[in-house]
Amino acid sequence: MTKPLRVGLAGLGTVGASVVRLLVQDRELLARRGGRAIDLVRVASRTFKPDIDLGGASFDTDLGSLDTPDVDVVVELIGGEGDAGDVVETAIAAGRHVVTANKALLAGRGNELFAAACRNGVALGYEASVAGGIPIVNALHKGLAANRIEALAGIVNGTSNYILTAMEEDGQDFAGALAAAQRLGYAEPDPTFDVEGIDAAQKLAILAALAFGTGIDVAGVYVEGIANVDVEDIGYARELGFSIKHLGIARRREDGIEARVHPALVPESELLAKVSGVMNAVMVHGDAVGATLHMGPGAGGMPTASAVVADLVELARGTLPVPAPATAELPSLGLAGVVCPHYLKIPAIDQPGVFAEVADVLSRHRISIEAVIQRPQAIRSGEAPWVPIIILTDEVAETEVEVAVAELGNLSGVSGAIARIRVADLSAMMLGP
Ligand SMILES: NC(=O)c1ccc[n+]([C@@H]2O[C@H](COP(=O)([O-])OP(=O)(O)OC[C@H]3O[C@@H](n4cnc5c(N)ncnc54)[C@H](OP(=O)(O)O)[C@@H]3O)[C@@H](O)[C@H]2O)c1
Repeated sequence: MTKPLRVGLAGLGTVGASVVRLLVQDRELLARRGGRAIDLVRVASRTFKPDIDLGGASFDTDLGSLDTPDVDVVVELIGGEGDAGDVVETAIAAGRHVVTANKALLAGRGNELFAAACRNGVALGYEASVAGGIPIVNALHKGLAANRIEALAGIVNGTSNYILTAMEEDGQDFAGALAAAQRLGYAEPDPTFDVEGIDAAQKLAILAALAFGTGIDVAGVYVEGIANVDVEDIGYARELGFSIKHLGIARRREDGIEARVHPALVPESELLAKVSGVMNAVMVHGDAVGATLHMGPGAGGMPTASAVVADLVELARGTLPVPAPATAELPSLGLAGVVCPHYLKIPAIDQPGVFAEVADVLSRHRISIEAVIQRPQAIRSGEAPWVPIIILTDEVAETEVEVAVAELGNLSGVSGAIARIRVADLSAMMLGP
């Protein structure tokens, strides 16, 4: 009879407890699926949790207890880079397979860890590290293996999507929507990582490396979070036929990889515009298949455990691959060379001639105007009453719009900061050069 796959688990928190539950409760089903038993033999974590049924596995507070010949695969669910990195590194060096949900670790040290796994001939499963329960790593690795991936774009941070959805659907401001997300447990007490786009950038870097066969380069991702999105912008975007989403976009270009994370106006006709709440979704364009959309819960104990355990089943079957070395040395381009339409909100002093000045600046930078909204009733009173002018531009290069916005800000008729949000025309982007 085939030997069981012996699992050592590090971390008994939200995801770890759910993994234990699946491994213990669904033992027989998973054995059938994997072609052999998947036995949880050891658990190591900081705190013993008497309420969790470990199904006979031993418990230790020492993470070193997993470094033993009776463990075939170490599942790392601690988080962070320090101890988690040591656990993963030790396991790989000892010739043990690893499964992890830790995007921060992969974003920081993934290249080194994948290279070590490759050298040692062990698998490194990371399905759970991106977009929680969505099997996007598997899709890119297997289902889309016949394709040259041209572009991918997605909502990969559930917290930001929850906040933007609450702002759009309930008219809450950013602070109110964030507080609601925190009350519901969708946002951490310190939400920086999510709302500033760092978490999304890490996930995008991991996906881009897989899609384009490059190394992981988080530093090469342009990052902008959602904290500056105003509920008023969401309203105007809606009038113009768009929803504002926080997107991660990666595209293969001739000269390298464009990778960026920022709020974007998404046409309401696009499926991504309809992805609401904490859901995640990733759109992938392959040269053979065209556009595909992968959607599901991006976080939570059980959805994430679903991805972790799927990696274990693959490992039991012998189909979880040993990482291959990166095949392409493509430079990260960040935002350089990006050309797209823009949404601009310009605070214009309520006096004749300001719109003409604005139009003149845009025209000198060869920026065409697609749509304008200016409502006298939107006037803000004060020493110098002003009114927002909303402009939707045609496609314009990043460098050009930056200079134009700086010039607009210097006009005497403009009384404050100009809001600028990129438009993601996904259909064009997926088909574009
Ligand atoms: N939660 C999600 O929805 C989700 C989704 C996708 C990916 N992930 C990733 O999954 C991983 C785990 O997340 P989580 O939400 O389950 O985190 P968590 O609830 O904080 O659990 C972490 C567990 O590790 C233990 N731990 C932390 N540091 C330790 C150390 N130095 N030595 C021993 N044990 C230690 C903790 O002990 P205590 O019990 O004493 O705190 C806790 O049991 C992270 O990499 C996270 O990014 C999570």
